[in-house]
Amino acid sequence: MTSLPDGVEPGAVESGPVVEVIDLHVHFAARRWRDRRSPVRAVDGVSLTIDRGEIVALVGESGCGKSTIAQAIMRLVPPTSGQVLSHGVDVTGLRGRALRAARQRFQMIFQDPFGSLDPRQTVFEAVVEPLLIHGLGDSDDDRRERVLRALDFAHLRPPERLADRYPHELSGGQRQRVAIAAAVVLDPELVVADEPVSMLDVSARAGILSLMADLRDELGISYLFITHDLSTAWVLADRIADAVRSAVGARGEGADVEVIDGRITGVGRIDPAGESGWSRARYRASSA
Ligand SMILES: Nc1ncnc2c1ncn2[C@@H]1O[C@H](COP(=O)(O)OP(=O)(O)OP(=O)(O)O)[C@@H](O)[C@H]1O
Ligand SMILES: [Mg+2]
Repeated sequence: MTSLPDGVEPGAVESGPVVEVIDLHVHFAARRWRDRRSPVRAVDGVSLTIDRGEIVALVGESGCGKSTIAQAIMRLVPPTSGQVLSHGVDVTGLRGRALRAARQRFQMIFQDPFGSLDPRQTVFEAVVEPLLIHGLGDSDDDRRERVLRALDFAHLRPPERLADRYPHELSGGQRQRVAIAAAVVLDPELVVADEPVSMLDVSARAGILSLMADLRDELGISYLFITHDLSTAWVLADRIADAVRSAVGARGEGADVEVIDGRITGVGRIDPAGESGWSRARYRASSA
């Protein structure tokens, strides 16, 4: 048996991207009976990769399939076809223990920081719950320590005091920090954030974005960051997977992003400074 270096857990030495979406299609049965024969092609052949510690923004017009891509990665909707790999393993086929482990490694943050918190739960209860669900922590003391550390990571300080508050006693930005703490407490590899700042005021937005970037730097978390706001994506992301139809036109030949009839049909790597990508200035211009 090969031995691992000190401090390295078995399984930690994993190769391959954190997430690799390959030719993903998600079709839904049409909602109205009249349209029953033509399914909604919410996602049509999308491929994208997120490496360890990378922030990939997914940008696109409303209804183009961003949330559906997120839900397929989170296993909340089944793909019609295609694969979602993590370190080379198809997560859409996982069952039992392996599925529970994957659920722990991938966490999601939603748009509405009030709706995602139970108004009857204290901050402590909201953040300890994921640990209890996943059976983590050796004792109540150990769990309490993990929760306080997660609150501190989320800049909810002093954590001991914030832990006893209820959602109605918090600002929108603080509530979103609680949601982030509840994700971070599980030590995730990937956080999928679906429009996490669009309901916050401008000052709270900047704080949440810099917190997410800090957590990437400190904990090595990768993000899929969904937004319809190009400037937010620009500030935060290492790469932008773009699904804006007009922007694809502006990018001209060699585009590795395609939107047909308002659906994302392909998402590739964009290096904004590189030959095949836009220049920064051009990206800004198209988002204005
Ligand atoms: N459960 C569902 N059943 C049927 N159609 C659905 C379902 N979920 C999403 N859709 C449809 O799939 C398409 C993509 O929806 P999705 O929510 O992924 O878009 P989005 O890019 O996240 O939009 P937004 O920016 O408004 O959040 C839309 O036409 C939507 O109406
Ligand atoms: Mg959405």
